[in-house]
Amino acid sequence: VSDVEAAVDQVDAITDAPAPTTDGPTPAEPTAPIDLGLLPFTARLDATGRLLLGGLDVAGLADEFGTPLFVYDERHLRARCRDWARFLGGPGNVAYASKAFLCRAMARLIDEEGLALDVSTAGELHAALLAGFPAPRLIFHGNNKSYAELKRALEAGVGRIVVDSFDELVRLDGLGERGFGPARVLIRLNPGIDAGTHAHLTTAAEDSKFGFSVASGAAADACRWAHESQHLELVGLHAHIGSQIHDPASYSAACRVLAELAARLRAEHGAMLDELNLGGGLGVRYRAFDRPPMLNRFATSLREAAVKACEEAGVSPMPRIVVEPGRSIAATGGITLYRIGTIKEIPDVRTYVAVDGGMSDNIRTVAYGAAYEAFLPAQAGAARPLAVAVAGKHCEQGDVIVPDAHLPEAVAVGDVLCTPVTGAYGYAMASNYNKVPRPAVVFVSDGRARVVVRRESLDDLVRLDEE
Ligand code: LLP
Repeated sequence: VSDVEAAVDQVDAITDAPAPTTDGPTPAEPTAPIDLGLLPFTARLDATGRLLLGGLDVAGLADEFGTPLFVYDERHLRARCRDWARFLGGPGNVAYASKAFLCRAMARLIDEEGLALDVSTAGELHAALLAGFPAPRLIFHGNNKSYAELKRALEAGVGRIVVDSFDELVRLDGLGERGFGPARVLIRLNPGIDAGTHAHLTTAAEDSKFGFSVASGAAADACRWAHESQHLELVGLHAHIGSQIHDPASYSAACRVLAELAARLRAEHGAMLDELNLGGGLGVRYRAFDRPPMLNRFATSLREAAVKACEEAGVSPMPRIVVEPGRSIAATGGITLYRIGTIKEIPDVRTYVAVDGGMSDNIRTVAYGAAYEAFLPAQAGAARPLAVAVAGKHCEQGDVIVPDAHLPEAVAVGDVLCTPVTGAYGYAMASNYNKVPRPAVVFVSDGRARVVVRRESLDDLVRLDEE
C-alpha cells in the first residue's frame, strides 16, 4: 500500500465512509487522474468516469446552478466534526472556526453536530445568531474588538470572550460597570512559537499582533487583571499558533507555556482555570503529494501534549482541552466549479485555460502562494497529461488560480473545471473585484442539492451606491 492509500484507509477508519478508488498511475503523479482522496468522502466515479458527489453528477450541478459555484458535501462536513469530537472527548470541546466558511446553513450544521462556534467579528456573530446558534456555545475572538462588538456579544450572552489586549480588558470592565456581563473570558497568549507555516499564517511568533506576550510578562498581568476584576470571570487560557500546520510538535511547546502559566496563576493567585484552548491549525492536503498529519493522530498528539504539560506543571485537576479547527473541517468538504471560456496556447511558453471566476473567489494562490490541483469532473477518471495554467477573468496578470495544473488532453472551451479543497478560506475571502458577483454556494447530500447562499446579481453589486 502506498502512503496515499494508507492515508485514505485512515480516513475511512475514522469516518465509516466507503473507500474512494482511483484507477491508473500512482495518484502522486500530477498527470494521473485526480486522486479522489482530495475530494469529499462521498466522491465516486460513475461507469463513464464522471464525478459524483452526494450521489449527484458534479458537472450537472454547474449546469443547474451556474458557475462559478461552491459545492459542499454535507456528509463530509459532519464527518469531520464528528472526528474532532471523538478525539477531543466530545463535541463541546471543539469550536468550528467560522472564518473558514460561514453562512446560516453552515452555522446550523455545526449546531446540529453539537460543536461550539468561534466567531471573530460582529458580522460572524450576527450570522451565527441569525441562524439560531446558541450563544452560550459561541466563542468571541478578535485582536481589536470594539466596544460595540463586545457589548453586542455580552447582550447576546456569548459563552466565552477571548481577550486579546489591555484595551479590551478596559472595555469589558467598563461594560461590566454598566451591567453587561459578567464576561467569561480566556486570555489569549502569544507563546512566542514559530510553527513553521507561511509567514502570513504564523500567529504566535514574538512579533505578532495577536495575544499577550508571555515572555514580556504581559500575559501574566492580563490574567491577574481578569482574575481580580469583579466584572470578569477568568475561565481559561488560549493560544492559536498558526494555520496549515504540518508538525504537531509545535503544539507541545504551546501546551507547556499554557500549563506553566496556569500553574503559576493557581499557586500565586488561587485562580482555578477550567479550560485550555489550543486554537486551530491542522493542515490539509491540497495536492496529492501533500502529507499533512491525519486528523486522528494530530488530535491525539494534541491531547497527549496538553495532558503531559499539565502533569509536568502540576496543574490538577486537568482542565478541559478545547480546539478550534476551521480548515480541517471545511477545506476538503468543498470544491469550486468553473466554466472554461477560452484556451490560449502560447507556443513554447504556456497554455492558459481561463475560467469564469478567479482571484475574487480564490485569493489564496495570490495571497499565500497556495497550490491546488484542477480536473474536469466530466472526465474525472481521465489521465491529465496537459500542463496548463488555470487563470481567472480579472484584469490582472497575477490572477492565476493554479499556475501548474494538469488537465486531460480532451479539454475544451465550455467544459466544467473543478478545483478541489476550496471549502476553507475560499468563499470566506471572496471579493467583488472588477465587479464580479460572488458565486452561489450549494450543499449536496444523499442525492439532493440545495442553494445555501444565492449567487450575487449585478444589481447586488450596486445596492450600496447612492444614485
Ligand atoms: N482559532 C483562531 C483564533 C484563529 O485565528 C484561526 C484561524 C483558527 C482558530 C482556525 O485555524 P485553522 O484550523 O483554519 O487553521 N486565510 C488563511 C488562514 C487564516 C487563519 C486565521 N485564523 C488561509 O487561507 O490559509
